[in-house]
Amino acid sequence: MKVLKASNYDDMSRKVANIISAQVILKPDARLGLATGTTPIGAYKQLINWYEKGDIDFSEVSTYNLDEYRGLGKDDPQSYRYFMDHTFFDHINIDKARTHVPDGTNPDAAAACAAYDKLVKSAGYTDLQLLGIGRNGHIGFNEPSDVFSKGTHCVDLTPSTIEANARLFDKAEDVPRQAYTMGVQTIMHAEMILVAASGADKAEAVRNMIEGPVTPECPASILQLHTNCVVVADDKALSQCTSMASV
Ligand code: F6R
Repeated sequence: MKVLKASNYDDMSRKVANIISAQVILKPDARLGLATGTTPIGAYKQLINWYEKGDIDFSEVSTYNLDEYRGLGKDDPQSYRYFMDHTFFDHINIDKARTHVPDGTNPDAAAACAAYDKLVKSAGYTDLQLLGIGRNGHIGFNEPSDVFSKGTHCVDLTPSTIEANARLFDKAEDVPRQAYTMGVQTIMHAEMILVAASGADKAEAVRNMIEGPVTPECPASILQLHTNCVVVADDKALSQCTSMASV
């Protein structure tokens, strides 16, 4: 695991965008695993900016998002598909047919998850998987548990995740209670994993991810076992880490 220190959110966002940009320049038909949430918004903005300047071309790129709320579709402003379209895809020259998000509108959770897993696997998994990290150490919606998950599956969100996500909804009661998410094993198949983290509220999770034992109680800790994992975190997110050396 390689840890890159950023001075603040903007610096983190530029570094993350630079790494994604390099991936797309080196492999124009790259398969990118993407994340939603607050953390990657700055990186997406930076990538849009470079696209507008002609520095990066997404025409051959395909994308696979980590997760989607169960029951929400592309027209729902709270869905992750809507977020991706409006935050990123609508502003770059990506072929929308090559952008993939689990189908939250399929009420058959087992079928929706199996179809998504098959899709990601048959594509050959991702070249680069971008991840944020939850305050409880979750990646995707793989919440703390006593086992690491495998493929795409339906999860019950924990109270802390529902509370963290409530800021994006009018009322906490509106936050969906379930989501379809890539499993930890699917995530770990990525050639490279890029974790972005910013802010003091992530400091404990970031410390557990980098320095703690590898345990499903902190799902992100498994990334210590990935052979090509880069963490880009700002000072505040790294404030509880005792060692800043690559581990
Ligand atoms: C998003 C996702 C989540 C978030 C995490 C951090 O697709 O899978 O794991 O990355 O909850 O969210 P933010 O960035 O909003 O703090």
